[in-house]
Amino acid sequence: MAEQPAPAPHAQWWRDAVIYQVYPRSFADSDGDGIGDLTGVRDRLPYLAELGVDALWFSPWYASPQADAGYDVADYRRIDPAFGTLAQAEALIAEAHELGLKIVVDVVPNHVSDRHAWFQEALAAGPGAEARELFWFRAGRGAGGELPPNDWQSVFGGPAWTRTANPDGSPGEWYLHLFAPEQPDLNWNNPKVREEHESVLRFWFDRGADGVRIDSATMPAKDPALPDFDHDAPPVPHPYIDRDDVHGIYRAWRALADSYQRPRALIGEVWLADPGRFANYLRPDEMHSAFNFDYLNCPWDAADLRRVIDATLAAHASVGAPASWVLSNHDVTRHVTRYGRADTSFGMALRQHATPTDLDLGTRRARAALLLDLALPGGCYLYQGEELGLWEVEDIPDAQRQDPIFHRTGGTDIGRDGCRVPLPWSGDRPPFGFSPEGATAQPWLPQPEQWAGHTAQAQEGRPDSMLTFYRTALRARRTEPGLRGEAFGWLPDSGAGVLAFARGDGFTCLANLSGTAVPLPADADVVLASAPHFDPAAGELPDDTTVWLRRH
Ligand code: NOJ
Repeated sequence: MAEQPAPAPHAQWWRDAVIYQVYPRSFADSDGDGIGDLTGVRDRLPYLAELGVDALWFSPWYASPQADAGYDVADYRRIDPAFGTLAQAEALIAEAHELGLKIVVDVVPNHVSDRHAWFQEALAAGPGAEARELFWFRAGRGAGGELPPNDWQSVFGGPAWTRTANPDGSPGEWYLHLFAPEQPDLNWNNPKVREEHESVLRFWFDRGADGVRIDSATMPAKDPALPDFDHDAPPVPHPYIDRDDVHGIYRAWRALADSYQRPRALIGEVWLADPGRFANYLRPDEMHSAFNFDYLNCPWDAADLRRVIDATLAAHASVGAPASWVLSNHDVTRHVTRYGRADTSFGMALRQHATPTDLDLGTRRARAALLLDLALPGGCYLYQGEELGLWEVEDIPDAQRQDPIFHRTGGTDIGRDGCRVPLPWSGDRPPFGFSPEGATAQPWLPQPEQWAGHTAQAQEGRPDSMLTFYRTALRARRTEPGLRGEAFGWLPDSGAGVLAFARGDGFTCLANLSGTAVPLPADADVVLASAPHFDPAAGELPDDTTVWLRRH
């Protein structure tokens, strides 16, 4: 396999970067305990460089009891022993840089782990103590304080409050956790919380991290009155989502990121339906980029996609930020599965678990979607395993499910384990090279036998494999002059169900979602097609296929 061409270095690398998400638990296990680790990633950095991505975003690798797979951070300055050591993380960053890969680390401002030293101290100190002011401790309602302080519900199901015991064992105050009880929310009105996070950012930037991905970025600021949330008449502004005072956090972080000679990137997880409110997070003195969840949620439908693409470009242009495109991550159903269903849209409350799916159709569309994403102006986020064409694993036995969403909803929401199954690297049976020979434990989630044909090894060198296709497409994106810059315009008269747009230098992208083959323009050469056995001589573009063209 030829080496990927090096990306053109530029200071604002995030504007058009392809960022690959590494979910450390599930990437590669070097020591045989069934859990992925940093050495597993270091061993495969050449694979990632050859794939042709520009940067790696690591889901949390910090010390954590793993109540929410690392999004419950106990200590930002230590690596979880299951993953490795700080020295290994530093070596990983240096080795990635040598290969031309940038590193983005995850930060979780909304909450910490209940094992974090601050929370332990707050529990031990008892009501009224200063240590409790870093969190949201409140007395309960009802005669004996036996009811939660308000009616907020956790995103993971159940009340957003848990009652504590006083140091003497008597029933005590409640604390707020918008996610699991093991994830107490921080009080960002307290300067110590702000100082600590800035110090954490500095800690990782000083170790060479090129940016941070900001978890649940709309949620850290709370209405200190903690009003009830009546779903029929929701309080305005929302008491904990997208409050105006959240932006002060990111303005401070931006000043810090900009203070480095090589500016660091701030990338936000901003789930908001309102494009204007979304764009607020990308103002010139705030974040650089945010995940485009409207695009991820969008059904595989030309009119809907066009609407979302237009809204995305307009919202980003309004603040001079680069757009971004994403189809999968560690929280959502893998898109090969989604795109093979009758309803191809996604919503957190709409996982459509185990509804019938046609994986061949989903795979064809996933290939077409990749070429569409990579041709749009801006950056792209890829989720580990999509380059292998992996699908959602829907038959994980309940007893092996680990996601707190599954457990806190009593299984009514199946949760996110199905997209987190350890990657298949080689061999014809589990653990598919995820763990080494002689491993003492099974992979932490069971891998399907059917992945035998989907290992990286099985796909290596096969012209029609998903892996070869990702490598080819990523290489072409780097070398295609028409994809530099941000020029973009829809082509007129492309027909219903066809997305057709021009970029620079005569480059055109055509995605056919019309349900039938459409004619290929005669005045163009095919640069790349998403269908593995595409024949330009046939003069037509099959359904669910995207093609990159260069007009003569
Ligand atoms: C969003 C993360 O992507 C998700 O995995 C996590 O459970 C929540 N935030 C809470 O940190």
